[in-house]
Amino acid sequence: MKDFLAISDFSAQEIQSMLDLAVALKAERAAGGNPPLLKGKVLAMIFQKPSLRTRVSFDMAMRHLGGDALYLSPNEIGLGKRESIADIARVMSGYVDALMARVFDHQHVVDLARWSTIPVINGLSDYNHPCQGMADVLTIQEKFGTLKGLNVCFVGDGNNVAVSLLHACALLGANFTLASPEGYDFKPQALEIGRKLAAQSGSQIRLLRDPHEAVRGAQVIYTDTWTSMGQEEEARQRELVFPPYQVNARLVAEADKDVIVMHCLPAHRNQELTDEVADGPHSVIFQQAHNRMHAQKAILARLLNVA
Ligand code: CP
Ligand code: NVA
Repeated sequence: MKDFLAISDFSAQEIQSMLDLAVALKAERAAGGNPPLLKGKVLAMIFQKPSLRTRVSFDMAMRHLGGDALYLSPNEIGLGKRESIADIARVMSGYVDALMARVFDHQHVVDLARWSTIPVINGLSDYNHPCQGMADVLTIQEKFGTLKGLNVCFVGDGNNVAVSLLHACALLGANFTLASPEGYDFKPQALEIGRKLAAQSGSQIRLLRDPHEAVRGAQVIYTDTWTSMGQEEEARQRELVFPPYQVNARLVAEADKDVIVMHCLPAHRNQELTDEVADGPHSVIFQQAHNRMHAQKAILARLLNVA
C-alpha cells in the first residue's frame, strides 16, 4: 500500500503489525532512542486547518527517526485554489519523500495520493482521521491487551474521528456502539464499510440514541467535539442538541468499573467532557495524545519501507 488514507484500506494483520511496530518503537524510545531509520528523509505537512497534536507529533516522529519535517500553513499553498491538487502532488513528489495532508474535503487527500509518486498520509479529513484511529487502538491495546471482544462506545457526533475508530474496532474485533442524536449518525457509506469489517472479525455494531443504555458494559467511552472544524456555522444548533451526550461522572459510573475514557483532543471542557472526568482516574487522554507520535512512527516507517 503506497498511502495511508483510511484504516479500512488495510487488513487486520497489516494494522496489527503496524501496532506491534509502534509498541516496539515506543519501547525503544523510552529505553534511550530510536535508530535513524528515516535519515535524510523529509515529510512535508500540508495543513488546511489548525493542529497541535498532528503537527507536533509528526514533526517529532520524523526527528526521532533521523529525518525532517516541513510545515506548510493553510495560506501558503492554497490547495486547489492557487494551484491544482494534481500539480501540487507532482511538484512535491520531486522535493520530499512523503506528504501528510489535513484537508476539508476527503477527495483532496485522495487526489493528492492519486497524483503523487510518494506516500500520502491523511492527517484528518471531513470523512475520517486514520492516524488518530491508530493511536486510539494502540492506547486501548495498552490498557486491555487486545481489542477482541471489548465494548467500545462513542458518545456524540458520528464524525471523522468516530469513523476511523469504528473501522479500527470492527477490523480488530471490538464491539462498537455509537450513541448519537438523530441526524448525527454515521454516513451510510462509512457504516457499510464498518459492517463489512465487523462481519469478518465477528464483532457487533450498535447504533443507539440513549447514551445511558449505550455505555452499559463498555470498557471504553470515547467522545469528541460536538462541532468539528469546518462546521462552525452549525455550532449553535449543535450546542442545543448535544448536552444529553456529555461524558460526565454520572455517565462514566454506568459503564464497566474499569472503563477508560478517551478523547482525541482538543477538548471543549465541560461541554462534551467534564473536567472531573477528563482529569479523573478513568481518563487516558494524554497517553492517547502521546501515542499519536508512536503510531505515526510506525506508519511512516512502513510507508517508507524501512521497517
Ligand atoms: N487530535 C488531533 O488531531 O489534534 P490536532 O487537531 O491538534 O492535530
Ligand atoms: N472531529 C474533530 C477532530 C479534531 C482533531 C474535527 O474534525 O474538528
